[in-house]
Amino acid sequence: MIQQAYSHFSQSTYICSVQELAEKIYHRCDIFYKSQPYTAILFSYQDRVYGYLNHCMHMNRQLDCHAETIFSDDGKLLRCSMHGFVFEPTTGECLSPVCAGEKLQALKLAVVDGQVFFSDKRVQYAVPQ
Ligand code: FES
Repeated sequence: MIQQAYSHFSQSTYICSVQELAEKIYHRCDIFYKSQPYTAILFSYQDRVYGYLNHCMHMNRQLDCHAETIFSDDGKLLRCSMHGFVFEPTTGECLSPVCAGEKLQALKLAVVDGQVFFSDKRVQYAVPQ
């Protein structure tokens, strides 16, 4: 039912501006990925924007399930708030032993004139009303 409401949206949909991402820790939004509901996390890191499914492979939790951040205290790594596993922001690769080498699912983004879009055919996104 919910998915039907999303189905008419383009696969290349405006999310927010690069400036908005630069001004906050991260942006999260509800999406459908391969027709399943998820949240996405987007952030600016070292002057580039990145997007991943908000889905930790360790125990299938959202990275921000216990905190309103997805970063380590020093801001250098992504960090799951459930058990503290850390990830390389630019690749999504897990650096913690149990899941070392596994990666967060990256989402393809496009930046056009300072605006960030999903450009991932697996993603359906509806701008919140
Ligand atoms: S669920 Fe993410 S570290 Fe355990």
